[in-house]
Amino acid sequence: MYAGHQVVRAYNGEAQAENEFDKINRELYDSAWKSQFFSGLMMPLMGFVGNFGYVAVCVLGAVLAANGSITFGVIVSFMIYIRLFTQPLSQLAQVFTSLQSTLAASERVFDFLGEEEMEDESTKLCRLKSVQGDVEFRNVRFGYDANKTIIHDFSAKVTAGQTVAIVGPTGAGKTTIVNLLMRFYETDGGEILIDNVPIRNLTRENVRDQFCMVLQDTWIFEGTLRENIVYSKKGVTDAQLDEVCRAVGLAHYVKSLPQGYDTVLDEQTSLSSGQRQLVTIARAMIESAPLLILDEATSSVDTKTELLVQKAMAQLTEGKTSFVIAHRLSTIKHADLILVLKDGDIIESGNHQQLLAQNGFYAELYNSQFEQVS
Ligand SMILES: Nc1ncnc2c1ncn2[C@@H]1O[C@H](COP(=O)(O)OP(=O)(O)OP(=O)(O)O)[C@@H](O)[C@H]1O
Ligand SMILES: [Mg+2]
Repeated sequence: MYAGHQVVRAYNGEAQAENEFDKINRELYDSAWKSQFFSGLMMPLMGFVGNFGYVAVCVLGAVLAANGSITFGVIVSFMIYIRLFTQPLSQLAQVFTSLQSTLAASERVFDFLGEEEMEDESTKLCRLKSVQGDVEFRNVRFGYDANKTIIHDFSAKVTAGQTVAIVGPTGAGKTTIVNLLMRFYETDGGEILIDNVPIRNLTRENVRDQFCMVLQDTWIFEGTLRENIVYSKKGVTDAQLDEVCRAVGLAHYVKSLPQGYDTVLDEQTSLSSGQRQLVTIARAMIESAPLLILDEATSSVDTKTELLVQKAMAQLTEGKTSFVIAHRLSTIKHADLILVLKDGDIIESGNHQQLLAQNGFYAELYNSQFEQVS
């Protein structure tokens, strides 16, 4: 509810949210009350048992001593026995509550420790150093769940320097392909090769070194603008930063910030969605790896800025293999190869002209941009 605060406000859900909160709060109250009550009860109860023992010993001892069957010393020693016996018991009772909460917590800790380890990669000695940029997908099959396959049989060959566009309806599996390429997930079948080396034989680190990517969900962390743009790269000068920011159209925004690149991006100086995307694009430009992935990188940016970014990108991707995913088809018109994805399978491929001439799904998708809702 706290995270979705705006939704609660926007849909007037305060009453419902309050009810829910009250319910959860009451449950917490009840269980906390019970746990406190019982743990509070433990000490007096043990005290009572101990004292009850004294009384029993005194009464029984008095009767037996009066009869002359035991001496006074036996009574005293039994009193000491009772104390020795009840003391550890009451100590146990004292730690019992903390034992209970430890048990509950350790369950979670052991759940975490019991998670499956990632495959050990220290034995993989194969390294890619200077990458050409050939990428091949060979009969790739994949599903996030074992019993629900999303990518059925994906094969594509990309030669170095090409721009490949992946288009398709929402939920077709475009981002999934990217996730597989970056080895965020392992394929269930088939292979992905970079420069004819299966990425399975490389370490994850080595694979990811070859890519710079702009993801669909922009990733900005709390820190200065400079830290956000120059991430895990050393020796970047301000001149380079200026150049990149000019290229993506952020220069004006940076000038308007009180401390320029050293302004901390937090709740007060929050960026618009488009600006966030521009920052992540700038980050990719600075990184400048041999392979580039753009997943809906300019979807929230206005069309004029998009054109600016595209021009800058064209310079950046010169001679590099790049994968571009976009719903605005004007963005990918000039791609060397367009793969049309539907339900995890390539249904059409070719360049813009070829696909339009085919008059299939792509042509339909493309023409629907110009349709009017009547
Ligand atoms: N982490 C995940 N776990 C389980 N299923 C997932 C996960 N991510 C995506 N999916 C499912 O995989 C399918 C393909 O998702 P994917 O994100 O690849 O679509 P997409 O083509 O990128 O769509 P969009 O155009 O909306 O970005 C969807 O049906 C989605 O529900
Ligand atoms: Mg996606």
